Amino acid sequence: MDFSKRVTEVPPYLFAEMDKVQRELEGKGVDVISFGVGDPDLPTPDPIIDTLNAAARDPVNHRYSPYEGLIEFRKAIANWYKRRFGVDLDPVREVHALMGVKEGVIHFLLSVVDPGDLILVLDPSYPIYEVGTRFAGGEVYRVPLLAKNGFLPEISSIPNDVAQKAKLIFVNYPHNPTATVASLDFYQELIGFAREYEIVVCNDLVYSELYLEKERPPSLLQVKGAKERVVEFHSLSKTFNMTGWRIGFAVGSPELIGALGVIKTNTDSGLFRPIQIAGIKALNQDFREQDYLRVIYRRRRDIVLSKLKEVGLQVDPPQGTFYVWIPLPWGNSSIDFCKTILERCGVVLGPGVGWGQYGEGYFRIALTLEDDRLRAGMDRLGRAIQKGL
Ligand SMILES: Cc1ncc(COP(=O)(O)O)c(C=O)c1O
Repeated sequence: MDFSKRVTEVPPYLFAEMDKVQRELEGKGVDVISFGVGDPDLPTPDPIIDTLNAAARDPVNHRYSPYEGLIEFRKAIANWYKRRFGVDLDPVREVHALMGVKEGVIHFLLSVVDPGDLILVLDPSYPIYEVGTRFAGGEVYRVPLLAKNGFLPEISSIPNDVAQKAKLIFVNYPHNPTATVASLDFYQELIGFAREYEIVVCNDLVYSELYLEKERPPSLLQVKGAKERVVEFHSLSKTFNMTGWRIGFAVGSPELIGALGVIKTNTDSGLFRPIQIAGIKALNQDFREQDYLRVIYRRRRDIVLSKLKEVGLQVDPPQGTFYVWIPLPWGNSSIDFCKTILERCGVVLGPGVGWGQYGEGYFRIALTLEDDRLRAGMDRLGRAIQKGL
C-alpha cells in the first residue's frame, strides 16, 4: 500500500525506541520508573469533575456544540485572559475552543501554511509545530536555542533571506523542554521582527501557569498592537491536570482565528458540551486555587536538583513547566545515555535529541510522578551517574 508522504515522512515518534526497551524490561518484571512523558499524576480538582457530572445528566448537553465553542466557554476564556494578563479579547471573533493545543496547532497550521511556505520553529521544541507544518506541505527553518542565550532565540542571527521568506514563527514559553520563561522584553523584540518581515507569530502558552519562580509568565498579546499578527494557544491540560479531557483554546487575530474556524468546521463538530461547562468552572476559579500545583512542582524540582548536585551535576533551575533540562554527565549521544540508564537502572529519561538537533547533549526529566517514586528514580540515576556507567 502506498501511503501519503504525510505518513511516510513524519519524523519517528520521540520515545518509540525507549518505549520498546521499557516494555521488554517490564515484561521481565523490572519496576521501571518513568521520567519520560509530561502527563500530570495529579487528579483533576473535584469541583471540575462534579460540574462535568451534573452537565452530563442534562440531555440538552448531548447534542452537537457550536464549532467554535459555547459562547459561555469563550466568554470565560476572554475573562480569564483579562484577569490573568490584562488582555482584552472579543469572545465572538477572537477566541476558538480546541480539543487541546496539539489538535489546535495542527489545524491552525493547515489554515495558514501552503506547500513551499517557510515556517520558523525553535530547536529544541515540541515536535508538533514541525509535524503540522510538514502535514501542510511547508518547509521548516530551525532557530537554535543555546544555553549561552538562556535558551531564547537570537532573533538578530536569523538570516535576512530566511526572514524575508518566512510566513510564521512558532514559539513556546514557558518552554518545553528547556523550562525557560520569556520576558515581555523578549516578546517585544519578537513582535518588532515579525512586523518588519510581516510574519505571523504563534505562542504555545500551555505552561503559563506552571511558573516555578515568583514572576508570572506574560502573554505575547500583552505587547501593544500585537494582536493583528498573533495567535496564542492554551489548554486546561497542565493548568488543571486535565490532559485526558482534551480541552483548550486559541485566541488572537480575528482573521487568523476565523481561518482556523474554517478548517475546524470541516474536521470536527465541537467539544462535548459538559467538558466545556466544566472548563468554565475551571477558568472561573480564583488564581490562588492553583498555588498548590506550583508548591508540588517546586518541591519535586528541589528533589531532582539536590540529588544532581550531590552527584556533582550543577544544573540551572527550571524557571517554568514541570521539566528539568540537564546536560549529559558523559558521552555526547542523548539516545545512548538514556538507553543505558533505562537498561541498567530501569529509569526512563527523555533524550534531548528527540526535541531537535540542538537538544543533543541534554536529557529531560518530567516531574509528573509522586515524590516517593521521584526520589527512588533519582536515587537510581544518582548512583549510575556517580559510578559513571
Ligand atoms: C509545548 C506543548 N504544547 C502542547 C502540548 C499538548 O497540550 P494539549 O494536551 O493541550 O494538547 C504539550 C504536551 O506535552 C506540550 O509540551
